[in-house]
Amino acid sequence: MRFSDETLHDIKCRFRRELENGLGRDTHTTATVKMLPTFVRSIPDGSEKGDFLALDLGGSNFRILRVKVTQDKKQPVQMESLVYETPEDIIHGSGTQLFDHVAECLGDFMEKQKIKDKKLPVGFTFSFPCAQTKLDEAVLVTWTKKFKVSGVEGMDVVKLLNKAIKKRGDYEADIMAVVNDTTGTMMTCGFDDQRCEVGIIIGTGTNACYMEELRHIDLVEGDEGRMCINTEWGAFGDDGSLEDLRTEFDREIDRGSLNPGKQLFEKMASGMFMGELVRLILVKMAKEGLLFEGRITPELLTKGKIETKHLFEAKSKEGLTKCKEILTRLGVEPSQEDCVAVQHVCTIVSFRSANLIAATLGGILTRLKDNKGVARLRTTVGIDGSMYKMHPQYARRLHKTVRRLVPDSDVRFLLSESGSAKGAAMVTAVAYRLADQTRQ
Ligand code: GLC
Repeated sequence: MRFSDETLHDIKCRFRRELENGLGRDTHTTATVKMLPTFVRSIPDGSEKGDFLALDLGGSNFRILRVKVTQDKKQPVQMESLVYETPEDIIHGSGTQLFDHVAECLGDFMEKQKIKDKKLPVGFTFSFPCAQTKLDEAVLVTWTKKFKVSGVEGMDVVKLLNKAIKKRGDYEADIMAVVNDTTGTMMTCGFDDQRCEVGIIIGTGTNACYMEELRHIDLVEGDEGRMCINTEWGAFGDDGSLEDLRTEFDREIDRGSLNPGKQLFEKMASGMFMGELVRLILVKMAKEGLLFEGRITPELLTKGKIETKHLFEAKSKEGLTKCKEILTRLGVEPSQEDCVAVQHVCTIVSFRSANLIAATLGGILTRLKDNKGVARLRTTVGIDGSMYKMHPQYARRLHKTVRRLVPDSDVRFLLSESGSAKGAAMVTAVAYRLADQTRQ
C-alpha cells in the first residue's frame, strides 16, 4: 500500500490518459472516467445577487439552504440551513419515495422560512454522475456510494423533483441548476478566489472537477471559452487499469459492496471504505498471529465495526488511548504494541488514499498547465470532505505529495466549508444574472 514516487508518477500519467479518453469523440462512450460536461461556463464574478434556495443530496447529510447573495463587501453571502434525515429505506427504496421525501423537506423548510408563497430559484447539488445537456437537466448515469434507489437511473432528476413538487401543490419552485458537489465546491471557492479552477471532494465518495477548454470537449458545441468538467474519477480503474495496485483487501471490499466492479478508485481512496479496509487488514494480521496474540472476536469479524472516524481518532493527539478504546470495544484485549501497530495500519491506509488522490490531482494539474501553455502553473483548488477536513495529517500529506508530483506549480488549497451546497446557489446566481442580462 506504500507507493514510491515513481509509481505515483505512473498513476498520474495513467489518469491523464483517462482524462483524454473521456473527452474524445471516439473514446468517450467506452471511457471509464466519464468526464461529464456540466454546462457551468464561468466561476462567479462577484456581481451576483439574489435570494436562492439550495438542496444538497448525496453527501453525508441531506441539507436545504437559503442563500442570500448581496453586494455587501463584508458579508456577501448569508446562509441558513437545516439538515434532514434520509432514512435507510429511502436510500434503498423507490424514486417516487425519494423525490416525495425531498419535496416534503423543501416544503417544510420554506414553511419555516415563511417563503412558501414565493417562487424562488433553486440550485440542486446532486452528488452523483449525471449526463447534462443543459444546466437544468441532469440524467442520472448510475448511483454510487450508499444510494441504490430504483427507477432513477436514466431519468432526469429535475423532472422527477418537479413532478413531486407539483403533486403536492402547496408551493412552487424554479429549479434552475443541477450541480455535482465538486462543481459546487469549486464555485464557492471561486467566489472568494477567482483563480479557483478545480474542485475536489474527499468524503464518503471522492471526485474532482476542473475548468477545461471548450475546444477539447468534443461532446459540446463551440470552441471558445471553458466549461467545468465533472471527471467522476471514482470510476478510475473500473477497466482493470489499477489491477497491479489493488490488494486482496480492496477486492474483498469491492465484493461486499452495493456496486461490485464499479468505483474502484473511490473504494481505495474515499472515506466510506477506510475503516473497513483497516478492519480487513487487522483480521488478516490477527489470523497470522501478528496481533492480539491471535485473538479473533465476532466483533472484529463484523463488517462496519471499525468506522472511518476511528482512523481520525487513532491519529489524534490522544491516539494510543483512543486506539486502545476502539480495540477494547472489539474485545481483542490489545497490548500496547498492538495499539502501536494498529495506529501504523491506520496511517498506511489513509496515506495511501492521500497519495492516490495526489496522483490523480497531479494529472489534472499537468493538464491545466499544458492547456494554458505556461512554464509554471498558478492555481487554486477548492476542496471539501470529511477525510480531508477531519484527519489530522491528511491535508498536509496530500499537499506535499501534489507539490512533489507537479513541481512546476504553485497550488493553493482552499477549504470550502459547506461549499457544495452554497455552490449550487452560486451557479443558480450566475445563471440568474446571465438570464437577467439577456432579458435586458
Ligand atoms: C461519488 C459520486 C460523485 C461525487 C462523489 C463525492 O463519487 O459519483 O458524483 O462527486 O461521490 O460526493
